[in-house]
Amino acid sequence: MTSPRHPLLAALAALLVLAFDAPAADLERAGKIVSGRCFLCHGMSGESSSEVFPRLATQNATYLAKQLKDFQTGRRKGTTMNDMVAGLTDQEIADLGAFFAAQKADPHPPADADLAAVGKYLYARGNSHSGVAACSSCHGPAAHGTEKLPRLAGQQALYLENQLKDFNKRSRTNDSAVMHAVASKLTELEIKALAEYLASVP
Ligand code: HEC
Ligand code: HEC
Repeated sequence: MTSPRHPLLAALAALLVLAFDAPAADLERAGKIVSGRCFLCHGMSGESSSEVFPRLATQNATYLAKQLKDFQTGRRKGTTMNDMVAGLTDQEIADLGAFFAAQKADPHPPADADLAAVGKYLYARGNSHSGVAACSSCHGPAAHGTEKLPRLAGQQALYLENQLKDFNKRSRTNDSAVMHAVASKLTELEIKALAEYLASVP
């Protein structure tokens, strides 16, 4: 970053940096952590190596950092993730979030277009007969989420399915029960349809 020439501007810029307390992410350092600890399951560019591992490419940076922190404190229990994040500093966690958010990924073409169509309807409109809220009201019309809410577009179908079941069983509780309320009303067919649709969204 080049600092502004004018001393007053430079002072202002320094103040702003202090105010936001957000040093630029060190993507090179994050890349080293990924090649050392993460790539086997999530791939070097966050394109996961199997459907059980979430795709991290294009996921929102703040959401990613929150999950890593939750794995570290034990607020979210994973099959392997709790050990993976041991010893990472908050800055490294923020760097990893920025690293994966900056990667690109292609959507998965739906294998069953009819099933995906059911998922598309549910995602946008919910199910008024059983009281399922429209997912789009929180995760956004394009399923890109927000800084704090996960992007669902392009995520691995099996991972999505597993998370919805985990929210329902309350084996994943770091959603403050918001997703539990949603997932507890979904049928098996609805879960499959949502996962099939979301994996195919660009
Ligand atoms: C042995 C395989 C494996 C390795 C290595 C691994 N992960 Fe994971 N990761 C998983 C699995 C499986 C999940 C799904 C949650 C669970 O069951 O633990 C996951 C979930 C995540 C999530 C949550 C994503 C979401 O959408 O909520 C993040 C973030 C993540 N991993 C980042 C990392 C980082 C960063 C590293 C390296 C420091 C890493 N993982 C190493 C298997 C792995
Ligand atoms: C009222 C808001 C709200 C609604 C409606 C909602 N969600 Fe969520 N969703 C959340 C929150 C909050 C989280 C958890 C964020 C966290 O772990 O910090 C979440 C997380 C998720 C995750 C986990 C993603 C990951 O990467 O691990 C999935 C999958 C998901 N939601 C699917 C859905 C689906 C499908 C619907 C519609 C049937 C839906 N959500 C409706 C708020 C909502």
